[in-house]
Amino acid sequence: MNNFTPVKIAGFGYSVPETVITNDDLTKLYETSDEWIYTRTGIKERRVVSGNETAIDLGLDAAKKAIEKAGIDVNDIDCIIGAASAPPQLYPTLSATIGAKLGIKDTIPAFDMTAACTGLIYAMQVARGFIQSDIYKTVLIIAADNNSKITDWTDRGTSILFGDGAGAMVMCASDDGVDDILSIKISANGAIGNLIRTGVPSQCCPLVQPADEVASGKIIMDGKEVYKFAVTTVPKYVEECIELSGLSAEEIDYLIPHQANQRIIESIQKRLKYSDDKVVSNIKYYGNTSAASIPIALCEGVEKGKIKLGSTAVLCGFGAGMTWGGAVIRLREGIC
Ligand code: UT7
Repeated sequence: MNNFTPVKIAGFGYSVPETVITNDDLTKLYETSDEWIYTRTGIKERRVVSGNETAIDLGLDAAKKAIEKAGIDVNDIDCIIGAASAPPQLYPTLSATIGAKLGIKDTIPAFDMTAACTGLIYAMQVARGFIQSDIYKTVLIIAADNNSKITDWTDRGTSILFGDGAGAMVMCASDDGVDDILSIKISANGAIGNLIRTGVPSQCCPLVQPADEVASGKIIMDGKEVYKFAVTTVPKYVEECIELSGLSAEEIDYLIPHQANQRIIESIQKRLKYSDDKVVSNIKYYGNTSAASIPIALCEGVEKGKIKLGSTAVLCGFGAGMTWGGAVIRLREGIC
């Protein structure tokens, strides 16, 4: 027993743009086919922002839904964490911008942190630490990414994968003594960070020698190596998170993984020996929406009746950094 304040997962929300880009649409950009993309990734279509729409609009919409589900007033929130790998702007931060749009009057802290596609799980670990130690009581996490703005649309190896979307979640001090986070673990290895990278377009001071190379601002990825990393590291890591939770794999109701590639999802499923009804996948319709993919899969899974609340789930994420993480959580009734 420890004296930490138990953490309640109070609400989730998600938002995706209206515009759908199918695999067939991509054949207008380069030589590819629906068959090639679907068999290698499980993706049929993805959503992208258009015109002036950005991850901030999606994140705001997702945040409003999560707040409503949590049954709190916006002014109950005392900290906002943005988990964005591809926000529309470096600053002002996505979290502070959305906080203002939500009408939060107080000068509560708002900051963005980047752990790419593992961002939600990293943010959960940070929020959990704040709540457990009574620093903040109610934390809003917003995972919102407009990947389409940093995708190299001439590169058929990466642009087939990514989509835009946002997920949000409210975590707060538990009022019934039940802790909804049974385990959480996060990791990183910068030594293999070049496997997925995006440099910020930049310049040198005009009075000094220019840099040899200027970053394009687009995603560059070694897909084969990322794939190998994911199928070797992540399934074993998920097992370790489960072990840490004190539950057995059979006792957990659902696997809600980061939606990066259907074959990677299946490698985790195989390791856990889970039947299809326990595994949540919606990559077919959204592609990889980075940090937003887990909350989108969770909320949509509930909407479609795949996930019954009042259950438990193991979440796992991995991505640029390289970063990876997992969590075993309780899914209370009414959270989404
Ligand atoms: O959050 C983490 C995000 N990243 C990931 O999870 C990525 C993990 N990796 C993957 O999902 C896979 O590596 C991809 C789906 C991206 C690529 O699949 P692959 O089997 O590793 O293909 P490859 O890059 O090795 O390419 C095989 C062939 C190449 O042709 P040659 O050199 O063998 O003639 C490519 O040029 O397929 C070609 N190719 C394509 N052909 C049709 C690459 N992309 C395409 C395409 N359509 N879109």
